[in-house]
Amino acid sequence: MKMNRFFLSISIVFLINFSLSAQLAINERVAALLSKMTLEEKIGQMNQYNGFWDFTGPSPDGGDAKVRYDHLRKGLVGSMLNVRGVKEVRSVQKIAVEESRLGIPLIFGFDLIHGYKTIFPIPLAEAASWDIEAIELSARLAAKEAAVAGINWTFAPMVDITRDARWGRVMEGAGEDPYLGSLVAAARVHGFQGEQLNSPFTIAATAKHFAAYGFAEAGRDYNTVDIGLNTLHNIVLPPFKATVDAGIKTVMNSFNDLNGIPATADTYLQRDILKGEWGFEGFVVSDWGSIREMIDHGYAKDRKHAGELAVLGGSDMDMESSIYINELETLLEENKISLTQIDDAVSRILKVKYELGLFDDPYLYCNEELEKQITGAQEIVNATLDVAKKSIVLLKNKNNILPLKKKGQKIGLIGPLAADKNSPLGNWRIAAENNTAISVLEGMQNYKDNELIHTQGVRLIEKVPAGFHEEVSINTHDKTGFEEAIELARKVDVVVMVLGEYGFQSGEGRSRTQLGLPGLQQELLEKVAQVNPNIVLVVMNGRPLILNWAAENIPALVEAWHLGTQSGNAIAQVLYGDYNPSGKLPMSFPRSVGQLPLYYNHKSTGRPGKEGEDPGSVFWSHYGDEKNSPLFPFGFGLSYTKFEYSKFKLSTNNLNPGGSIKASVEVKNTGAVKGKEVVQLYLQDPYASTTRPVKELKGFQMIELAPGESKLVSFTLSEADLKFFNANQKWIAEPGMFHVFIGSDSSIKEKRSFEFK
Ligand code: NOJ
Repeated sequence: MKMNRFFLSISIVFLINFSLSAQLAINERVAALLSKMTLEEKIGQMNQYNGFWDFTGPSPDGGDAKVRYDHLRKGLVGSMLNVRGVKEVRSVQKIAVEESRLGIPLIFGFDLIHGYKTIFPIPLAEAASWDIEAIELSARLAAKEAAVAGINWTFAPMVDITRDARWGRVMEGAGEDPYLGSLVAAARVHGFQGEQLNSPFTIAATAKHFAAYGFAEAGRDYNTVDIGLNTLHNIVLPPFKATVDAGIKTVMNSFNDLNGIPATADTYLQRDILKGEWGFEGFVVSDWGSIREMIDHGYAKDRKHAGELAVLGGSDMDMESSIYINELETLLEENKISLTQIDDAVSRILKVKYELGLFDDPYLYCNEELEKQITGAQEIVNATLDVAKKSIVLLKNKNNILPLKKKGQKIGLIGPLAADKNSPLGNWRIAAENNTAISVLEGMQNYKDNELIHTQGVRLIEKVPAGFHEEVSINTHDKTGFEEAIELARKVDVVVMVLGEYGFQSGEGRSRTQLGLPGLQQELLEKVAQVNPNIVLVVMNGRPLILNWAAENIPALVEAWHLGTQSGNAIAQVLYGDYNPSGKLPMSFPRSVGQLPLYYNHKSTGRPGKEGEDPGSVFWSHYGDEKNSPLFPFGFGLSYTKFEYSKFKLSTNNLNPGGSIKASVEVKNTGAVKGKEVVQLYLQDPYASTTRPVKELKGFQMIELAPGESKLVSFTLSEADLKFFNANQKWIAEPGMFHVFIGSDSSIKEKRSFEFK
């Protein structure tokens, strides 16, 4: 044991020294290269163009390809996005490396959000697994598949905290909680970037969108954000900080203005906090056209002014505005920006390229053999299935209608998403082939000892959208399939209905004001329920939907998100009990759109009232026509077994700085099958220099218990867990009383208390 520790510390010292000296060498190489570059070439490094095929933003004319090729030859492009596949990447890299004066390699960016060709569950779904290792593995394997296709930089993870399901982009993040969000964010960074960035299987990651994009007013994409420092520091920033601590190489700013300043030009965010206080050494890329959009925001008077504001604000690379490349030289001549600022931006960009190994081998990520070998490899497929199962959340299971019996059953499979092989891929899967997901129908067909009969019942969409840019139009008139579905329902033992959102109904630019089941699905569900009440409703979606009627009237509800390539297999294995569901919601599910934004870690208000009790008057913070509480709270998820919590206690009632407290609980599996439970610990600071949330997640553990088995689960709390951004703008733990809650979801009421002195 002692020997091992000795060798371990020697190797840690060795590794630290090694990486320090590697870093020094890189800094020297960057400085040497910088000294050879003309001003034009320097500005070129700060310029990023979209490729010539896919578009992930509004660029109707595609940019002028002739200009772009010419700029590549002159060394006036630092990066390309949306160029993919070894052949294409190589051909573009070749121009930069072999035809430009200094041959500086390009870095190739891509929105690798949840898989490249093999699609993993959408990030919100993965967050529902609460399985940090599985999430890291998902990012690692997605990176591997993309890296061998020429990509060396992903615009992920999106770490925006999201409280408003109207916003379509909630699908891209880890939900509403900064603690879970920070762990997931760090895991994704570790997964994408690995231990060694210059391996052909790892890529640079991007934390986005800096910052507060998830707080777009009314959930409308690209909309204004107005939040105070309290929310910014306590809720929005922690996951970003976690990515910086995890060694993230790049950060993307956001489209929104924040308290009156477009994030792209926000010196407080980008210079003071990110590059200053947090010591971030990588580079900041603008979002698509966000430098130019400052004109529309009414913040920059023209393109040149926008360029000036963005540079001063600390944005290092210009994605698709073509403003840096055209305006920075003049701005420098006019002394509006400084050479030091340009040199700093360029050095940051070059450094990441060195770290990726691109200067040692610009074609490191361009190996056709590896591309063939690794694309769609079994290792990747297996991991997508594994994490897809873990992402499913069981919301209701009355009378144990689930799991389905494996034999002798007649099962009717109904719904527009039951045989859909496209929607489960979700949004953001540009490199995947359409219709490559395993459908629920295919997944269920593997269970051959039941009779499975399928009918669609109703179409969800009018026509398949042409791609990323097109609005999805929903069928609201054609009910021709209803009758067949109702007839089928009459004659089967159990109906499995697969309803929800079409794959492109969530994601960027997909805000919605109505969150019920889209189109005619609700009507179909009600009609089917009239003839056969034994319904298992599987919901596929990229955001929390409003499922009140189903929660009340349908015995079993399974939240299956958009689970990716292996979707149907994962769902079938859960329905048949070959995997006992263990997911927990990473976002609260509302009862009504009118409740939004909705989140468990809200403040108390001066008139909290008590839900369920008659307060005798209207003078408390509530709605006259709806409850305050969500339909399903954050952290909620059932299992095919039951868990009982008991013996909740704290090791002491006093915590001193430097000390710790153990909070423990016994959890017992009182059901009949083995199952996993995510035991969650929440804290409340009931009185402080600023108001504090009624509850905040501060720890969780996933345990697996056999029937009858019990386990003591304990958490260690220390001063660090009590800290927050307080009234004096300090990250600090204030003395006083704290409440601890341990339970199965965020609605837990039972608490123990201690004092921090
Ligand atoms: C705009 C999106 O906001 C951002 O997340 C994405 O990375 C870029 N487009 C590039 O596609």
